Amino acid sequence: MRRFYLETFGCQMNAHDSEKVVGTLEQKGYMQVETPEQADLLLYNTCSIRDKAEQKVFQRLSQLKKEAARGKVFGVLGCVAQQEGERIFEKAPHVSLVCGSASYTKLPELLVRIESGDKRVTGLSLETSETFDTPFTRRDNPHRAYITIIEGCDKSCAYCVVPFTRGPERSRTSDSLMREARQLAGMGYTEVQLLGQNVNSYRDPSAEGWDFARLLEETGRIAGIRRVRFTTSHPRDFVKEIVDAIDRTETLCDHVHLPAQSGSSSVLKAMDRLYTRDDYMRRIEWMKQARRPIAITTDIIVGFPGESEADFNATLRLLDEVEYDSIFSFKYSPRPNTPALSRDGQIPEEEKSRRLSIVQERQRAIQLRRNSELVGAVEEVLVEGYNPSTAQWIGRTSQNRVLNFTTPGEAPEKSEMIGRYFRVKVTRAGPNSLAGERAA
Ligand code: 5AD
Ligand code: SF4
Repeated sequence: MRRFYLETFGCQMNAHDSEKVVGTLEQKGYMQVETPEQADLLLYNTCSIRDKAEQKVFQRLSQLKKEAARGKVFGVLGCVAQQEGERIFEKAPHVSLVCGSASYTKLPELLVRIESGDKRVTGLSLETSETFDTPFTRRDNPHRAYITIIEGCDKSCAYCVVPFTRGPERSRTSDSLMREARQLAGMGYTEVQLLGQNVNSYRDPSAEGWDFARLLEETGRIAGIRRVRFTTSHPRDFVKEIVDAIDRTETLCDHVHLPAQSGSSSVLKAMDRLYTRDDYMRRIEWMKQARRPIAITTDIIVGFPGESEADFNATLRLLDEVEYDSIFSFKYSPRPNTPALSRDGQIPEEEKSRRLSIVQERQRAIQLRRNSELVGAVEEVLVEGYNPSTAQWIGRTSQNRVLNFTTPGEAPEKSEMIGRYFRVKVTRAGPNSLAGERAA
């Protein structure tokens, strides 16, 4: 059982956990392969944020059942593993390993148990103060590196499974984070993205006692680091010092993702979000008044139980008022263990769909308008790739916009472009991206 295949679902935290799992297993002599057919160990790092994400995992497990008949070992990791626990063995009897993210340090040991004949092993304890730190992380991207600063979540939003799947908050020490970031800069990474379910509640457990704003600023000062991003924020813990740090420190990207979820204070209360619409708008004002224009993005849930037409309209007004640079919007999905699951006032599926498309249409127009304002501007991009079908380089601005661009004259080699920074003049705008030409 030496060759493993790993497929990842879900958020950036999951993507980065997978990078750590891959590195950890490689260190123990396992080898990652590209397809399930080549592997003798099949791992799925799963997401359970919405029902659809969870269903995808079970579909995948059933599609590949025939591989189990060939003696291959199946493991389910991540949020579905933690949420469903041993029930996974009933739903998918060919699975041998179920392990949540709070138990990844135990993964090698669990695999050894399988190799020595155990049919079913689990890592499901959430009572941990551990964070999954490893020097062996195998990063997928050579230019942008994720760094987990805090794991778990201590909030209890009424719709959300995360507190049940990722356990309580645990912050890493500033010392270990600075060491990792400096090392990454030394290896040539120029962009780092600080990750956590709620990065704003980061609190250095060492005597230094840094808060998140301090950590951000110090990361931005590391020689060689040109861009620092962070996700995700919780409005309740988002303090003005974060905006001040962005204003002072040019390497901190001028982009904040601040999930609102709803524009109605009564829905926010029912969601147990711990802020009102006014509290949220105060944070938006801090950003709008900053010296550097800060791009603001958000998450919206439509159709939360009890959401009236008036509540929904308040969300639409929030979109108009903030003029987000982009949003992720979702239909409320009832999740196991969560308080909202059994609430009255569940909204029919068709109504949720109707509200979702109204939100998306409204936001599309806002984005087109915001992006059009940038035509003529010169932006710095980090080049992430090349699109041969349009002959454009794919760049990303500090504000996290995609800016596709062409270069004058003969096409340069990829190695001269990808991972490097260029100035690009914006010539066209669409709702989801910009296009331009490399500027002198
Ligand atoms: N239903 C729909 N969307 C959800 N999210 C979290 N839980 C649910 C749910 N039960 C959304 C929130 C969150 C984003 C990551 O996913 O908007 O910010
Ligand atoms: Fe999905 Fe949330 Fe788990 Fe990320 S933390 S994988 S979004 S359930």
